Amino acid sequence: MKPFRIAIFASGSGSNAEAIMHYLANHAAIEVALVVCNKENAGVLEKANQFGVKSILINKEEFYTSRTVLQTLQSHGVSHIVLAGFLLLVPDYLIKAYSEKIINIHPSLLPKFGGKGMYGMHVHKAVIASAEKESGLTIHLVNEHFDDGEILLQVKCEVDKTDTPETLGGKVLQLEHEHYPRVIAKWVTRV
Ligand code: GAR
Repeated sequence: MKPFRIAIFASGSGSNAEAIMHYLANHAAIEVALVVCNKENAGVLEKANQFGVKSILINKEEFYTSRTVLQTLQSHGVSHIVLAGFLLLVPDYLIKAYSEKIINIHPSLLPKFGGKGMYGMHVHKAVIASAEKESGLTIHLVNEHFDDGEILLQVKCEVDKTDTPETLGGKVLQLEHEHYPRVIAKWVTRV
């Protein structure tokens, strides 16, 4: 068993999860032990399957009221949690159990365009609507508030006059795939 075992939490198509599983596939010290998903038909479930990574589907209500998810993480020896397009607020009991061991990626330059309701395409629509000249991504540690912990990396890109929320989303997503796996590997193995 490798010394560091991560669980990827995702709610959507899972393109970041895929980039992470691909990057870590032959890593000497880190393995993806589990994918945790709260949406029944999310693409991330099929992606986990393709990489031979076990996935579990969680129920929102149970996530907040029971400790089943925490017990599952512990029974899989999970040392770090990676949020990759996970849209539920992480409950306090998980933040306490995995203090400083949960990381998130957000598709804007936080603190701009962060907070409740700001996820995925909503973010890019808001960036275009406010005629921002630049956008990008933020990778940060997770605490009990949405999009608020210590920032580990921000990467910028230009917002062109011709950009739509979709084209901007595509640019940011490509940057996410390029940077998130590397930052995760560095963060997980830091002393
Ligand atoms: C990514 O752009 C990620 O930054 C964003 O959701 C997308 C998930 O895409 N996360 C948030 O907005 C969190 N507030 P993916 O499922 O293809 O990885």
